[in-house]
Amino acid sequence: MACTCSEAIYNFAAGPSPLPAEVRAALREALVEQGPLEQPFGAAAVRRMQEDVEQDLRALLQLPAHYRVLFLQGGASAQFALLPLNLLAPGQSAGYLESGHWARKAIAEARRHAALKVIASGADSGFRALPPFEAWQLDANLGYCHVTSNETGDGLQLHDFPELPVPLVADMSSDLLTRPLPLERFGLIYASAQKNLGIAGLCLVIVRDDLLRPPRPGLPSVFSYALQAAANSRLNTPPLHALHCAGAMLRWIARQGGLTAMAALGLEKSRRLYRCIDGSDLYHCPQHTTDRSRVNVCFQLREERLLPLFLRSAERHGLLNLHGHPALGGVRASLYNAMPLAGVDKLVDFMTAFERQHG
Ligand SMILES: Cc1ncc(COP(=O)(O)O)c(C=O)c1O
Repeated sequence: MACTCSEAIYNFAAGPSPLPAEVRAALREALVEQGPLEQPFGAAAVRRMQEDVEQDLRALLQLPAHYRVLFLQGGASAQFALLPLNLLAPGQSAGYLESGHWARKAIAEARRHAALKVIASGADSGFRALPPFEAWQLDANLGYCHVTSNETGDGLQLHDFPELPVPLVADMSSDLLTRPLPLERFGLIYASAQKNLGIAGLCLVIVRDDLLRPPRPGLPSVFSYALQAAANSRLNTPPLHALHCAGAMLRWIARQGGLTAMAALGLEKSRRLYRCIDGSDLYHCPQHTTDRSRVNVCFQLREERLLPLFLRSAERHGLLNLHGHPALGGVRASLYNAMPLAGVDKLVDFMTAFERQHG
């Protein structure tokens, strides 16, 4: 296939995902120079590094003072279990929005630890749309209501958040720091770091301080949000390397113009790609336009037999990791903050040329 694209390489991985060159340079330096990564975790240099990360995060998010920031391990998957164990009072149940693959994972894990009600499900639409707020069946007894703000595998995203009578809890693993947020609507936000906040190993939990409850009997101390908050997330050794990387990512985002700039860039990147898909006879995005993700653009080829060739050709042209989630198939282009507009333009050029030749 003739390709007029430049030879730049772009990595569309869903996570871990590419880092900006400046962040990669900061990591390289941290490995070469002696610094906080080789200090006891109680040392002043380590405490300062962690405090700087927290301050930069608070500034970017404009996080009100009554929210605590926890730097934990175990990924978002560990929080799937730890949310009900930390947030529910005896006798309370939790409400979950079933929006796609990651919500189903969160539900399956939470069900092992608590009574749980699915407040609305996208199953009726084949997970091609999100249930509207009016369809959410909430009751005042729920200890919290859980949503997955961006379904990384299904390509669906909540573009607004309701004010609820119970604490709203959100898995934002794939879209935290891609847009400004109405923080006061949330009781708790959590996110693994390896998409928009650096590398794997760190999981951020932002929790309103009135939701911190004394640990229930049997809960290991390191898994208690209240005990970690009281110990400034240093109940045991924090993931220093991932924290250092998060700091570099936050400074990079601030230099790009902060979350408003990230949101504008994300909107433009996704718009260009969806425009190419919707204008084509070969590519097809079944997700309802109003709920489409601006972060993970998922689509299919109408002629499925062409998919392996599409992915192989894309790779030869320097467009990497475009395969869909292993459980869902198709194509997925992840457009996290570090993906420049030029990467999307190159992908669009490639898709157009591929369709011309094979469509
Ligand atoms: C929305 C969402 N939640 C949770 C996870 C799981 O994160 P981890 O592997 O860090 O536990 C992912 C990973 O891709 C995700 O995209």
